[in-house]
Amino acid sequence: MSTILVTGGAGYIGSHMCVELLQAGHEVVVLDNLSNSSARSLEAVERITQRSLHFHEVDVRDTDALRKIFATYELESVLHFAGLKAVGESVSEPASYYDNNVVGSLRLVEAMMEAGVHNLVFSSSATVYGMPEEMPITESFQTGPINPYGQTKLHVEQMLTDIAGSNPDWRISLLRYFNPVGAHASGEIGENPNGIPNNLVPFISQVAVGRRPHLNVFSDDYPTPDGTGIRDYIHVVDLVRGHMKALEFLRRNPGIHVHNLGTGRGYSVLEMIRAFEAASGRQVEYRVVERRPGDAAVSYADPAKAERELGWKAEFGIERMCEDVWRWQSHYPNGFDAADSP
Ligand code: NAD
Ligand code: UD1
Repeated sequence: MSTILVTGGAGYIGSHMCVELLQAGHEVVVLDNLSNSSARSLEAVERITQRSLHFHEVDVRDTDALRKIFATYELESVLHFAGLKAVGESVSEPASYYDNNVVGSLRLVEAMMEAGVHNLVFSSSATVYGMPEEMPITESFQTGPINPYGQTKLHVEQMLTDIAGSNPDWRISLLRYFNPVGAHASGEIGENPNGIPNNLVPFISQVAVGRRPHLNVFSDDYPTPDGTGIRDYIHVVDLVRGHMKALEFLRRNPGIHVHNLGTGRGYSVLEMIRAFEAASGRQVEYRVVERRPGDAAVSYADPAKAERELGWKAEFGIERMCEDVWRWQSHYPNGFDAADSP
């Protein structure tokens, strides 16, 4: 078993990753500055797995702190989740996105080179594809992000491609996520957005639990069967299992590799509302409003490359995604740090 560094490990996807790694018997070291998370997620990870992990409250841009971590542990691989992810905020505060996402990744890679650690999995996003006309999206599609967040992801991909080209020791996996949703089946960890959620499923779930009066559906005049936008929602547990497969793949395959992580199936906003109502037994009030700028009508993955090369395929459907989100939301109606949390 190996010792793995998880940057951003206290966050939504990172905390689910820690559960999977600990359950597989790995030692886990988490680095997170808690800018968008709570250390309570890591306590929950330890409760779920009955194992302990090593947590360092550190910023990924802090070279000295990184050096200490690399000197303390015999790290085999790094899973790099740390970064900022809100599209709207990236438009109003681009410098902060370039700093956290691009500079943060550069500092991390420098520390890895210095320590002689060359296995890296990077959280990229389907947002690097921009707004393709054709579906499903394969990895060979042209990239062209349409917002600063997406640009930072593509810049990091390009930087890592150049770095991998400079030394054959590197083994790097770029994973382009579609729409991660869901929560761990225990209801102990899940997505905990700060403020008003930007994404559909956390918003639906906060309406169902009574925190918000209604959902705004961003238009029903798209060229789709019910007029609402279609996306490829993927259960976060399936997603982190894709990372386990990517780690195995890197052991056999040096160089840099890119894979889509999606289910290959798209669902509309109205289908997601209905699935959530069925899972929660609550009604989700909604109003149809204007389109959100920058939204594509349809986006879904071709996950065939991941299936062929990683031996990975998503297993959970939207019913299970919604049930798990609802369990988490009813357990922590106001998120981890709110006064009414257990
Ligand atoms: P998250 O915000 O829940 O987790 C990110 C974690 O990184 C947080 O715990 C935050 O505190 C930490 N962090 C941020 N900046 C940091 C810094 N400078 N130093 C140290 N820690 C820092 O987000 P998530 O949904 O778990 O996303 C994880 C990764 O996956 C991100 O890189 C995100 O861009 C990428 N991604 C997410 C989605 C999605 O829809 N959730 C989709 C595609 C890609
Ligand atoms: C958004 C980001 C994308 C990012 C992804 C992460 C934008 C423009 N895009 O994508 O860059 O990688 O999150 O998961 O922000 N919807 C509503 N009402 C809402 C929220 C969403 O109707 O309150 C609709 C949207 O129009 C879309 C679907 O629900 O059709 C999914 O939206 P969302 O969860 O925000 O994901 P993306 O738009 O795919």
